[in-house]
Amino acid sequence: MTNKVYPVSDKWAENALLDAGTYEEKYRRSIDDPDAFWREEAQRIDWIKPFTEVKDTSFDQADFRINWFSDGTLNLSANCLDRHLAARGDQPAIYWEPDNPADEARTLTYRDLYEETCRFANALKANGVKKGDRVTIYLPMVPEAAVAMLACARIGAVHSVIFAGFSPEALGNRIEDCDSDIVITADEGKRGGKTIPLKANVDEALDHHAHVSRVIMLRHTGADVPMKQGRDIDWAEAVNNQPAECEPEEMNAEDPLFILYTSGSTGKPKGVLHTTGGYAVWTSMTHQYSFDYRAGDVYWCAADIGWITGHSYIVYGPFANGATNVMFEGVPNYPDFSRFWQIVDKYKVSTLYTAPTALRALMREGDQWLESTSRASLRVLGSVGEPINPEAWEWYYHKVGNGQCPIADTWWQTETGGHMITPLPGAHALKPGSASKPMFGVKLQIRDAEGTVLEGACEGGLVITDSWPGQMRGIYGDADRFFDTYFSAFKGTYFTSDGCRRDEDGYYWITGRMDDVINVSGHRMGTAEVESALVLHEHVSEAAVVAMPHEVKGQGIYCYVTTIAGVEGDDTLRKELIKLVRHEIGPIASPEVIQFAPALPKTRSGKIMRRILRKIAENDTSSLGDTSTLADPEVVDQLIAGRPDV
Ligand code: WT7
Repeated sequence: MTNKVYPVSDKWAENALLDAGTYEEKYRRSIDDPDAFWREEAQRIDWIKPFTEVKDTSFDQADFRINWFSDGTLNLSANCLDRHLAARGDQPAIYWEPDNPADEARTLTYRDLYEETCRFANALKANGVKKGDRVTIYLPMVPEAAVAMLACARIGAVHSVIFAGFSPEALGNRIEDCDSDIVITADEGKRGGKTIPLKANVDEALDHHAHVSRVIMLRHTGADVPMKQGRDIDWAEAVNNQPAECEPEEMNAEDPLFILYTSGSTGKPKGVLHTTGGYAVWTSMTHQYSFDYRAGDVYWCAADIGWITGHSYIVYGPFANGATNVMFEGVPNYPDFSRFWQIVDKYKVSTLYTAPTALRALMREGDQWLESTSRASLRVLGSVGEPINPEAWEWYYHKVGNGQCPIADTWWQTETGGHMITPLPGAHALKPGSASKPMFGVKLQIRDAEGTVLEGACEGGLVITDSWPGQMRGIYGDADRFFDTYFSAFKGTYFTSDGCRRDEDGYYWITGRMDDVINVSGHRMGTAEVESALVLHEHVSEAAVVAMPHEVKGQGIYCYVTTIAGVEGDDTLRKELIKLVRHEIGPIASPEVIQFAPALPKTRSGKIMRRILRKIAENDTSSLGDTSTLADPEVVDQLIAGRPDV
């Protein structure tokens, strides 16, 4: 924590889209008269049939419902493409930068993106995809990923994008969960000079999930991959002869737009469902205000399309606003640690939006990697995915941004659809490490464990007391789980599962997850998911997984494993277990530490005391708290003694 405050500079105060006074006035209105506020904000979207009703929502169990603009109709693909053609058909929509800078970069204008999307939308239809069908997308960071998403939105199909770092097993489970019978993929992806065998992964996934009848495969690296007769077709072949026009489907505001799987406290990832109208308004509005976005800006969100950040702030928000987007296939450290800054200079990027983990990884390599670049085009910097530590914040601000660019530290979740807490450039003084102030329409409360609302400066659980347009509408295929997961902890409110502190200036500081979710490099992992993978091994009898602090990743995965009688935990087993987790979930879930434990600390009723396991993983054993309820207190000493030196 730091007490530093960076006031709004004169230059920003004079030129900001929203200044401090406007923020206050708009925020007030959004809370006092949401109907009028959202009626006005919704005009940023072109509606086919205008809505009459704005907000019809309740978080109470008896009449629980979330409806926004619900009698309006629209098409989000048309909002992202068609309506820009007249004024900016020739403006770049995507500057695509390949993994290897020696390969050829691509530019797609809005007209190109429109035509590619229409062709692919027609191809989807020709392959039997209809409104409401689920389409699984498993693609690398190439323009076709955006094309595939926008094509689904165009014909009213519901996309489910699976991050290319997920394993065949995880991919297969997600295909099955949403009952999708078509998969869009590529031969291979590329990241940091390595290839990812996407098509081979799809083949493996489909060995166990056989009802998929169609795989459309983009040739990206040109690798020689087997094609299954009757099931697999080339993207090029699929779009060949398809017209470059496709009438957008008229969608109701509350029709599903996409499903995106994310981890929670339980073993099974949940399919977060977002709908069309409210999400469109929310992502367009937040993209504009959070980043002080202006026409002509070159905007770069360095996230992956496989996460909500990619959905909301590479695709829907920026395209709805007609932005020029940089899309990068690669990683920050390839071919060297100056790659990000090279890209900023190459495309004259005005807004860079990235994650603290990337900043920490670059920061520790030293400032010499910044020196050959100017980054003079930068105007606004963004941070997302986890709390940004003040050291990384200061480096981002002073070194990357030359002390000129406000940092939008955007707190939000897959569930919230878009930004919920962030300082607005030019409106808010900045406090390094604080996500700062609520977005318009966001009503926050901090509660203690008993549910009492805390006032003034305080710390507790962060809840949201009223609906906002970008909110998720359900868990795909499991209506009850939606209410139980988010609205039952504190009656009548949405519980974020994040801890939060509010300071005397009303600034919000996110302290991290309060549930069994680990944030590894900004990626959400459920401890239960990793545990389920570990216990699949025949030599494992029990496993408990907790977070450990990690210098670059923010958090790492720390596993306690007990073996079955007669088996000793050794390095061979350790390697097998890591392989198993990577097989079940993917490389992003690789355990940092596996500690073999003779037993796990349990209460007399058999409940694992995770608090103790967390403390040991954090190497903070001076304050273990009350261990008197443990069935066998000696276990704790054995665990401390057996902690590997990491
Ligand atoms: C969790 C949501 C938001 C899109 C990417 C992650 C943490 C996210 C911040 C931030 C502190 C943050 C929270 C949240 N988180 N942004 N700026 N400051 N914490 O989405 O995978 O749904 O994860 O990420 O713990 O609950 P997600």
